[in-house]
Amino acid sequence: MSDFIISVIKCKKMYGKIDKTLRSSQLMDVKEVLRFADDLVFAKTGEHLEDLQEAILAGVWEGKKYSQIAEASYCSEGHVRNVASKLWKCLSNVLGEEVTQSNLRSTLGRRQVFIVSSNFGNDFLHIGNVNVCTDTQSPEVTNVRSQTPTPQPQQTPTQPHIDLGDAPEIFSFYDRTPALATLQTWILQERCRLIALLGISGIGKTTLAVRLLDQIKTNFDYVIYRSLRFSPTLNATLTNLLQIFSEKTDIPQNIETQISQLINYLRQYRCLIILDDVQMLFSSGQLAGQYRSGYEDYPLFFKLIAEVCHNSYLILNSWKKLRKIAKLERENTPVRSLVLGSLGIAAKEILREHKLSDEDTWDTLINTYQGNPLWLEYTATMIQELFGGSVSDFLECDAVILSESLQAELDQQFQRLTQQELAIMIQLANENEPIALPQILQAMPLSPSNLLNGMESLGNRLLLDAKGNGKTTFFSLNTVLKKYVKNRYTI
Ligand SMILES: Nc1ncnc2c1ncn2[C@@H]1O[C@H](COP(=O)(O)OP(=O)(O)O)[C@@H](O)[C@H]1O
Ligand SMILES: [Mg+2]
Repeated sequence: MSDFIISVIKCKKMYGKIDKTLRSSQLMDVKEVLRFADDLVFAKTGEHLEDLQEAILAGVWEGKKYSQIAEASYCSEGHVRNVASKLWKCLSNVLGEEVTQSNLRSTLGRRQVFIVSSNFGNDFLHIGNVNVCTDTQSPEVTNVRSQTPTPQPQQTPTQPHIDLGDAPEIFSFYDRTPALATLQTWILQERCRLIALLGISGIGKTTLAVRLLDQIKTNFDYVIYRSLRFSPTLNATLTNLLQIFSEKTDIPQNIETQISQLINYLRQYRCLIILDDVQMLFSSGQLAGQYRSGYEDYPLFFKLIAEVCHNSYLILNSWKKLRKIAKLERENTPVRSLVLGSLGIAAKEILREHKLSDEDTWDTLINTYQGNPLWLEYTATMIQELFGGSVSDFLECDAVILSESLQAELDQQFQRLTQQELAIMIQLANENEPIALPQILQAMPLSPSNLLNGMESLGNRLLLDAKGNGKTTFFSLNTVLKKYVKNRYTI
């Protein structure tokens, strides 16, 4: 008996079992539909569904009109109709029967059998393609039988292509459970294409991002990390990224073509890309948010990643807020930002690693150094070297002591400030209590607009603490920054 006939007989037997199961099973929910359709299309074309195609499928499945889907997807109804028409053709082709907007539920509902089928052992799974057990058997079955099993796109059974460039290896990682959960939800469930991960230097952005890559890598075809610490031009960054996808093809020189080629790859594959140290694209000595000369095309690239439909995700790490991204961030857009704060009590593990003593005083140490892992590492090293590891002795010595390494770390951030920002920092370091804008204005020889711009810029650099009482906002510096400003710019 030929392979084909054996397959058909096996299928028929299976079909009987499945049919019973099917009768007792529930209708697919929208997530299953998307996954099912994506598997089908991937098996046939080697490409995953794009975001808009998924939005159309989900919308139609839930009984929405094209106009509603268009509105929710920020594109024209005509565009939705075009994409939908191609999608129905593709699905019809894959399923061997006509799929339309009006029969989608009934057609896919019947095909639920093939999802249920995965309960019925490997033989069936090997055949594992809807063509095998469709009502209209065709010689295509034999071809399918001889093919290697179809990869399941969501779980990426083949290893993802991982290119972490010069990402640091993570030896210890503590907590960050809420931040990891938020990022995972934004990426895997809410499909946010552009995410800014923000926080002062040393707070743990790189560590968190690399940990996230490791945790969710199996959902992707490509997992990529690149640091922009040496301020590459957009051309250099795009060339570098394009080479990962295709070493052999010539990389275009023109930025526009490079971007469109990259977006094609981002559509074709599920990619998770981290660009770290984005702050290096900004000018020193100018208010926060000014891109360096020659780097002005980066924000356009980021905007396109957010706005164009594709299947990939870009995380941008920066120690200052990205204003243009903040502008794109609205409830219904696939853009988010997360500001990383103190590591909290998990930072005790860092102190433990450094073999410090007097555990009852560790909370004070962590609070003083803002739960910043890097600041705590530097301080713990100093405590170990100069105080034999005794945190109490260290705390008794002075309320805040900054090691040279910690100050050198902060130098890098302060070197980027404008004169007026520095003057504001010095003023705030001088204050014993948090202070409101009118009082700062009174105390400083700055025009209101210069003061406001300076304050806004410092806020974007995440250097200010702000607390409100409902009516007025009061500003201050945290203990470490206050001490640093006093040490470096003696008043
Ligand atoms: N969650 C964490 N658990 C353990 N160590 C951490 C954690 N986050 C950061 N660190 C440590 O703190 C230091 C600074 O972290 P890093 O990720 O480089 O900060 P950033 O990228 O924000 O400047 C690194 O030495 C890192 O090992
Ligand atoms: Mg970093």
